[in-house]
Amino acid sequence: MRDLYEVMFRRRDVRAEFTGEPVDEAVLGRVLAAAHAAPSVGMTQPWDFLLIRDRDTRRQFSDHVRHERDVFAATLEGEEAERFSRIKIDGVMESSLSVVVTYDASRGGRAVLGRHAIADAGLYSVCLAIQNLWLAATAEDLGVGWVSFYREPFLSGLLHIPDGIRPVAWLCLGPVSELREIPDLERHGWRARTPLEEFVHTETW
Ligand SMILES: Cc1cc2nc3c(=O)[nH]c(=O)nc-3n(C[C@H](O)[C@H](O)[C@H](O)COP(=O)(O)O)c2cc1C
Repeated sequence: MRDLYEVMFRRRDVRAEFTGEPVDEAVLGRVLAAAHAAPSVGMTQPWDFLLIRDRDTRRQFSDHVRHERDVFAATLEGEEAERFSRIKIDGVMESSLSVVVTYDASRGGRAVLGRHAIADAGLYSVCLAIQNLWLAATAEDLGVGWVSFYREPFLSGLLHIPDGIRPVAWLCLGPVSELREIPDLERHGWRARTPLEEFVHTETW
């Protein structure tokens, strides 16, 4: 019990601390099995996991991320722009491999139990698989970094993802020199966690 909480609070989004050492295949298997054990609406298991080790593919994605970083940076001004310029937003080339997690809304057939009123329930399921992966990786002393500075059509084209299947996350994965105690965005003064009390409502909003 304590171990689970310890892993949850130790988990970090990693960008700068990847060592690039290989990930043991058995460990990778356990991490993916944990992701695949996630709950899913109607038991659809609407996820797929693409393992990307090829440096050229990662380079192409990394170049795209750099461009999208510039697009976002152009929306910032003054001190905010300055603060953002110091923040590293990905470890695509430094990590050992990448795992792209996708969503297939057609999985489970026409009548998905539990999704008739809330289409997003399928997407929620994929996010739970991602969180399982993230926590399992942390328990294995690996780091994970979620990269969302990309356009979905670009990523679908790069990885030949079929029409109708949506990329949900590009995850950098691998051994790390350390998991920092304080999240990067907090360390750089971008944004800090708000205390739980502000998010708990009783009976009504
Ligand atoms: C959906 C999602 C997308 C994210 N995209 C990025 C990203 O593109 N680049 C990045 O550096 N961090 C990204 N993050 C990481 C968050 O910045 C990070 O989770 C948050 O600052 C809290 O830090 P922690 O995960 O270390 O606790 C993403 C996280 C989530 C959940």
